[in-house]
Amino acid sequence: MIGRITLKSEADLAKMKAAGNIVKETLELLSSQATVGMTTEELDRIAEAYIREQGAYPSFLHYNGYPKSICASVNQQVVHGIPGKYKLRDGDILSIDVGAKLEGFHGDAARTLLIGNVPEEVQKLVAVTRECFFEGLKFARAGYHIADIGAAVQKHAEAHGYGVVRDLVGHGIGREMHEPPDVPNFVDRRMGRGAPLVPGMVIAIEPMINLGTWEVVQLQDGWTIETRDGRPSAHYENTVAITEGEPVLLTL
Ligand code: MF3
Ligand code: CO
Repeated sequence: MIGRITLKSEADLAKMKAAGNIVKETLELLSSQATVGMTTEELDRIAEAYIREQGAYPSFLHYNGYPKSICASVNQQVVHGIPGKYKLRDGDILSIDVGAKLEGFHGDAARTLLIGNVPEEVQKLVAVTRECFFEGLKFARAGYHIADIGAAVQKHAEAHGYGVVRDLVGHGIGREMHEPPDVPNFVDRRMGRGAPLVPGMVIAIEPMINLGTWEVVQLQDGWTIETRDGRPSAHYENTVAITEGEPVLLTL
């Protein structure tokens, strides 16, 4: 993370809402299309076509050399899975991460989808990961600090015995997809309370929660992050604007 936290004007926020809405609609489209037998590459093509039809650009495409428009991470894959020939199977969970840039501003969000009949234990992981986002969101308000968000996420995840990924974090977002500040999903002692939250800040809150250990590894492809123990992982993310009052969800 380089540079300083940027505050968005009302005009900026209107553009971010439009970008975020395209991300939201893309995720809804993919959720309705993802089925057993489909490849993650097909989902990528659907997403890219839809985003471009809206006059936007898929934020991830060519980002630091990333080759596709979405991230599609199955089961033990945490994030940054590259869409490919893998065919979705009954019982898989699929984390889909989508970004779109419109009029100079990005939106970024992720959902974890259930494919067919998913074991109850894994369904619970997916549900609790979503809940973790909303626990963190309670502190996405002026008067709190960045660290309050991660503390709430971690508390909820660990109450269920899950592992909170520490190697990847949420982030500020705006004209760049990744802006300061980092938004960890855990208490990072090095950070202290972190930056105070003030109106005009926009952040991506994105818990990545593992059924087993919090530890992860990166695959040889240079992108895919997997759990070290091979157990499933879920991801849930929205782009959130801090205001004088209630936070505004730009991708939900
Ligand atoms: N959406 C991811 C994030 O939240 C970014 C994807 S990395 C990319 O940080 F390279 F795939 F774009
Ligand atoms: Co993000």
